[in-house]
Amino acid sequence: MPESALTMLKEWKQLAAHAQKMALPENHLKHLVNQPGRLETFSRKGAGLFFDFSRQRLDGTTLDMLLKLAESKGLLPRFGRMMDGDHINVTENRAVLHTACRSFSNKPVFDDGKDVMPEIRRVREEIREFAKEVHSGKITGPGGQPFKDVVVIGIGGSYLGAEFAATAMAHRADKGIRLHFLANVDIDNFGDIVTRIDPDTTLWVVISKTYTTAETTANTMQALEYLKSHHLSPKNHMVTVTSKGSPGDDPKNPVLRTFHMFDYIGGRYSVTSAVGGAPLSLYLGYDRFEEFLKGAEEMDIHAATAPARENLPLLAALISVWNNNFLGYPAQGLIPYSSPLSKLAPHVQQLSMESNGKSVTVAGEPVGVSCGSIIFGEPGTNAQHSFFQLAHQGRPFPIDFIGVLKPCHDRYKTLSKGVTNHQELWANLMAQAQALAVGKDDPNPAKCFSGNRPSSTIVLDDLSPRNIGRLLSFYEARTVFEAFIWGINPFDQFGVELGKVMAGDIRNAMAGKNKNPDYRFDNRDAIQKFYLEMLFG
Ligand code: F6P
Repeated sequence: MPESALTMLKEWKQLAAHAQKMALPENHLKHLVNQPGRLETFSRKGAGLFFDFSRQRLDGTTLDMLLKLAESKGLLPRFGRMMDGDHINVTENRAVLHTACRSFSNKPVFDDGKDVMPEIRRVREEIREFAKEVHSGKITGPGGQPFKDVVVIGIGGSYLGAEFAATAMAHRADKGIRLHFLANVDIDNFGDIVTRIDPDTTLWVVISKTYTTAETTANTMQALEYLKSHHLSPKNHMVTVTSKGSPGDDPKNPVLRTFHMFDYIGGRYSVTSAVGGAPLSLYLGYDRFEEFLKGAEEMDIHAATAPARENLPLLAALISVWNNNFLGYPAQGLIPYSSPLSKLAPHVQQLSMESNGKSVTVAGEPVGVSCGSIIFGEPGTNAQHSFFQLAHQGRPFPIDFIGVLKPCHDRYKTLSKGVTNHQELWANLMAQAQALAVGKDDPNPAKCFSGNRPSSTIVLDDLSPRNIGRLLSFYEARTVFEAFIWGINPFDQFGVELGKVMAGDIRNAMAGKNKNPDYRFDNRDAIQKFYLEMLFG
């Protein structure tokens, strides 16, 4: 790629030269991890998380250089400006205030001179009241039976964060509510859910910032038709979470409740707004949702105020850029050794890839390096028996291992091979990180492990709502810091538009055929025509 403002920075050039040095055999991780004090030097505690990056391919000089880069890019002041309501989403001229959603301080937060905190507090209070009344049986369907199922309709940022948080905290779901997510427009998603619910005791929660998203509109139409076919009304069975004045906020289409989200909250950063608030409060109770918010707030404060050298998400972002741009790893694995965190990777996948999958800076100039990482993951140990062959002997990719000290279900302590299941899980987590780092020689080349494969390990005490909030905010802040390093805008997503426009065009052709069976697809290109004719038979 041609030189850019970023690659011409002296800090960037120094790092590029230093990366050559880190590639020398004496800097193989098998040597680095055995240096005295390695763990103490390259691990940090903050906002309830432990972050160990001792198995990353870096040394003290790397860290110093990365911190200089952080300083030259003004990461901490920029993060502060974001939290203060500056319109740092420049392409859409919006403030970025997901952090205000979980602020419990009395400090005002201004967007264009208006304090946003009163409306944020109002929405939280409305959700608290609503969830309480559903749980107490004050709000029911017309038959008077309490609600037992909540179906959340929404996609992308109006789905993934809530699903991650709900799955992670499912062990605390004691309100007698089952939660279902209807995201995909695939009718099999809808068809499957309706086999598992009772229409009389089901509440539909439609989440969409714009209320124009095709998948959500189609699924809402199915839900409305389903209600109608059971002689039920959205006035009793449907809740919307949407922007003020959107089609989902129209008094002409009355629903049981509408909770607002705001312009300054981007979809993939929205789980701590009403987007997560409504479903999570119904599922877990408002108090647990608030605990979750407080955990996120704690990590926000850490991200904004901890010195760069001690700042967990900032260090994680620097390491991510180091791995991506200087060591040449395009992908990252996210492997929680905790099944309830199974939806962390899909959430961070959207958070990171939709935010940082960009090529131009906020000024519209080419960034000059590849931005964003390919994020994927599965819980360990399942991942080990799936794609870890590649991790050990194929194409290397850095990994975030996530360990949880106390499992949710710790009363099952039957020993196998002398250890509990939870100990076995941890033995694997520890072994994988070490095996990837140090590798192993063998006279048989097929049994050689080259090692030198980097990873970090993040440890949580348990899966309390507070810790889930901290983890969520950690990855949000890491994503934002990465973007600040690259100089891109992590808050727009124009890259998803082209495909949407083309789908609309094909939809119109399909609708034409539905209206008139003689309609021919002659104005489509040959490939599209082939598939359309195949679909319509
Ligand atoms: O995938 C694109 C996207 O615009 C996401 O950014 C957003 O979270 C999702 O679609 C859903 O949008 P909405 O909440 O408006 O339905």
